[in-house]
Amino acid sequence: MATQVGSNNMRKILVTSALPYANGSIHLGHLVEYIQTDIWVRFQKMQGHECYYVCADDAHGTPIMLRAQAEGITPEKLISDTSIEHQSDFKDFSVNFDNYYSTHSNENRFFAETIYNRLNDAGHISKRVISQAYDPEKKMFLPDRFIKGECPKCGAADQYGDNCEACGATYSPTELKNAVSVVSGAKPIEKDSEHYFFKLPDFESMLKEWTGSGHLQDEISNKLQEWFDAGLQEWDISRDAPYFGFEIPNSNGKFFYVWLDAPIGYIASFKNLCDSSRGIKEGIDFDAFWESDSQTELYHFIGKDIVYFHGLFWPAILHGAGFRTPTAIFSHGFLTVDGQKMSKSRGTFIKARTYLDELNPEYLRYYFAAKLGSGVTDLDLNLEDFRLRVNSDLVGKVVNIASRCAGFIKKKFNSTLSENISEPELFARFADASASIGEHYEKREFSKAIREIMALADLANQYIDDKKPWQMIKEEGKEQEVHDVCSMGLNLFRQLIIYLSPVLPVMAEKTADFLNLNSMLWDDMQTPLTKHAIKKFKPLMMRVEEDKIQAMVDASKEELKVIDKAEVNKKKSSTDNEKTSSKETSTALAEPVSEMISFDDFAKIDLRIAKIIKAEHVEKADKLLQLTLDIGGETRNVFAGIKSAYQPEDLEGKLTVMVANLAPRKMRFGISEGMVLAAGPGGKDLWILNPDEGAQPGMRVK
Ligand code: 2FM
Ligand code: ZN
Repeated sequence: MATQVGSNNMRKILVTSALPYANGSIHLGHLVEYIQTDIWVRFQKMQGHECYYVCADDAHGTPIMLRAQAEGITPEKLISDTSIEHQSDFKDFSVNFDNYYSTHSNENRFFAETIYNRLNDAGHISKRVISQAYDPEKKMFLPDRFIKGECPKCGAADQYGDNCEACGATYSPTELKNAVSVVSGAKPIEKDSEHYFFKLPDFESMLKEWTGSGHLQDEISNKLQEWFDAGLQEWDISRDAPYFGFEIPNSNGKFFYVWLDAPIGYIASFKNLCDSSRGIKEGIDFDAFWESDSQTELYHFIGKDIVYFHGLFWPAILHGAGFRTPTAIFSHGFLTVDGQKMSKSRGTFIKARTYLDELNPEYLRYYFAAKLGSGVTDLDLNLEDFRLRVNSDLVGKVVNIASRCAGFIKKKFNSTLSENISEPELFARFADASASIGEHYEKREFSKAIREIMALADLANQYIDDKKPWQMIKEEGKEQEVHDVCSMGLNLFRQLIIYLSPVLPVMAEKTADFLNLNSMLWDDMQTPLTKHAIKKFKPLMMRVEEDKIQAMVDASKEELKVIDKAEVNKKKSSTDNEKTSSKETSTALAEPVSEMISFDDFAKIDLRIAKIIKAEHVEKADKLLQLTLDIGGETRNVFAGIKSAYQPEDLEGKLTVMVANLAPRKMRFGISEGMVLAAGPGGKDLWILNPDEGAQPGMRVK
């Protein structure tokens, strides 16, 4: 894979991570990518290269427009609030962008228009009328994710407009049965409109060449081959009003599709950096990075779900518009937690802030680094393994070296390291590992780098164990040796921290302070510290506590409940992201709201406080409990599907809420005379309503 350009040692490198949508919080799934990129960038900077890391919020599109409407604010206000939240999360995880910007910016408008105009002038844009689902009430075209109905293949209810989660079928929204707009509940109609297309097939030979020549990981270029085999299609780059985005020049009210201007945001953010006071002072040369024959390097870190955009559309667009193409696209897999897709009900859909409220961000940076390779396999955050690994490696091995040596240096040797490096071979062995550890970082084989660093940490601990300074100090005439051993230990510790500093920048900073150094540069590991005064040792990292992890999981479950309520109020489903993604997106919150009912329909429901006077198992029923309910002098027999969440004995005597005017239904086990209200994703996570004491059976719920 191409990674190095130019012959001199100082490389010029521009790096990006995918731009997060401006309508949702950063979660641990996102952080895999930002942490991976940040480690790589920090490593490049430590090598002395001119390296810039830029990003931005992805601020356009239907979901953002609708979310702002639902919240009663302008999209500008929504994206500005989100940007503040995102940037504070990134900062607290030490993700150190050189610039963080927004796709809703003048620079981005300029480059989107420039690129479009150049493509249009070169004949790469076509126009034709297409027919699409349209919400006649809301007066807007509906992206597939905003239409729900019954699957045309298996009949499953509540399926999105493009694929069925029950049977896996894919189809077009027009095939859905009893389709409704998720936005208004109206029945969508078909409506014609002229759309603009980017003629991707014009770039077939260029793309075949590009995708086959080292710019992509092998598994990705194989995947792209399948797309070539299927035939490249023209790409629809326009959307009709109402749309939050940039109007297409001379188009009479058409807008660029969010995915057209999103990657252009990479260019815009970099341009904004170049034009900033820092950019001007440092003379960062925009053209040198983006001109078609650029000698600089450009890397995009992305998730494997957006390879189509970055591996095909993006290089074709850049090439067609006279800009340079990327040096490489680095894709990664998704995050699972405890072996499963992140789940809101299990409390494993963890927001960056929820993590930060309980745990040190460097734990996660380390754990991700210890598991990241250069491929696209998914990464599992096993919460128990996370705790054990961080405690054993960072606290037990690395920090332990310093804490074992620092006390003696302070108490016995006036806080000054000895003049001697007593084990020069060991020091050299640590220093010599620089080439191989550096190569692992360069190739994004972070797990290999960490394995090698931890093997060195084992050697350092072994050295101290063998020398036993705590025994020697009690022996006559061994003072010098204790001084040498502890000084040697701290030198090894310093070398380890230099190796770890792309992963653990805060720990590196604290170590620099403790060792009384202005900086920790990569090559410093070649030169020992002797006769050097150090400062007082303070614990550099605490152990990961089990109860903190649990608190984070519990808080994530709590958030779900709060969000669910708020979202239902706001008809949240209208804010789901437009694009289908196997990655659970930050805005995919609770179940989207079902078809709307009128207030008059709702008013017909007679909700009553009911006392559960008896609860029993139902023989041969997997899900049902039989409840006898008192609704104020009248008893009702109700079969409720809540067995997975409740034991009968826990229910007896409790108050709940029932639908009292539901027509009796004959079931296999008897007649059910009403329905108890319960909500939740299912299994153990199912809750009946539970009114406070004081409510009286039979009271009507208003
Ligand atoms: O998938 C996403 O979250 C997109 N917002 C990523 C955009 S990356 C780039 F193209 F801007
Ligand atoms: Zn189906």
